[in-house]
Amino acid sequence: MYKIAVIPGDGTGPEVIREGIKVLKAASSKYRFGIEFTEFDFGGKRYLETGETLPDSALEELKNFNAIYLGAIGHPDVKPGILETGILLKLRFGLDQYINLRPIKLYPNVETPLANKKPEDIDFVVVRENTEGLYIGSGGFLKKGTPDEVAIQEMVNTRKGVERCIRYAFEFARKRNKAKKLTLSAKTNVLIHAHDLWMRTFKEVSKEYPDITADYAHVDATTMWMVKNPEWFDVIVTTNMFGDIITDLGAMIQGGMGIAAGGNINPEGVSMFEPIGGSAPKYTGKGVINPIAAILAAQMMLDFLGEGEAAKAVEDSVIDTISKMKSMSAGKMGYSTSEVGDMVSAGI
Ligand code: IPM
Ligand code: MN
Repeated sequence: MYKIAVIPGDGTGPEVIREGIKVLKAASSKYRFGIEFTEFDFGGKRYLETGETLPDSALEELKNFNAIYLGAIGHPDVKPGILETGILLKLRFGLDQYINLRPIKLYPNVETPLANKKPEDIDFVVVRENTEGLYIGSGGFLKKGTPDEVAIQEMVNTRKGVERCIRYAFEFARKRNKAKKLTLSAKTNVLIHAHDLWMRTFKEVSKEYPDITADYAHVDATTMWMVKNPEWFDVIVTTNMFGDIITDLGAMIQGGMGIAAGGNINPEGVSMFEPIGGSAPKYTGKGVINPIAAILAAQMMLDFLGEGEAAKAVEDSVIDTISKMKSMSAGKMGYSTSEVGDMVSAGI
């Protein structure tokens, strides 16, 4: 019996999560495992009503679940940063989900903006560090609001944090067993302290993985190759900030936000799975948002729970469903949000 905490969140989050749960239930009855959902109402609406983002007690409670299934956090009436740091980053940091795993995979029949690129050309995974770097909120202001203002945002990289991320990426490349290549994407030519630590750690750890080709690309060049030669990548390991940026580019080349999923992984603790598209306020409540990203997040969750067979069945059914859809974009799918969920469920 898997105990899943569900945080539907804001905007279109609840609509897509509903379809993901539908698919998980279909998979559980077909593959004979128990699954139980407990819903939490964290998000913009609760914040506007109560002033509360994510209480510490909730973080403790969430540690008792096998996984967390998250829709989207972000509300047009809440100042940027409050919900992101108060809920999403608090979950990632508080549960020490030190890996953000983002597969960039072009499925058959999905349109990519890259000319002449096929599914076999776009199939790699970004391992993004998820608890350090520029995201920790360290820094401050001096003389705020004056012409002499100074704003400092500190980037923190620890040997422990960098090493565990790089080690995870090497292990992942080995387990994935494709091109067996790991590319570190960083900026060693400018970030001469922080990324010197990344490079040294990468080189040291790579000695333990002689079966994996250890490669390096500056992050700016990485964006260039992702567009020009995405087939060069197998697994990319990168920092929190760079990973945030390159995975949005990755989402676009794999067919858009309607299909991009990610996992916030604590290999020794509770992991959290989410579609990476955000709350999409303009499509909220219309039944037109694409639930495939949320369904693929559920699929990743099944895989991490050890239900490999069920995960494979969900992925196959998604591939089948996609072949019937007109587009991956909201409002242009040829089906409603719930019809897409029904089709994936029926195909399991
Ligand atoms: C993501 C999002 C978040 C991030 C925001 C909402 C804080 O963009 O999951 O990529 O920057 O990590
Ligand atoms: Mn992002």
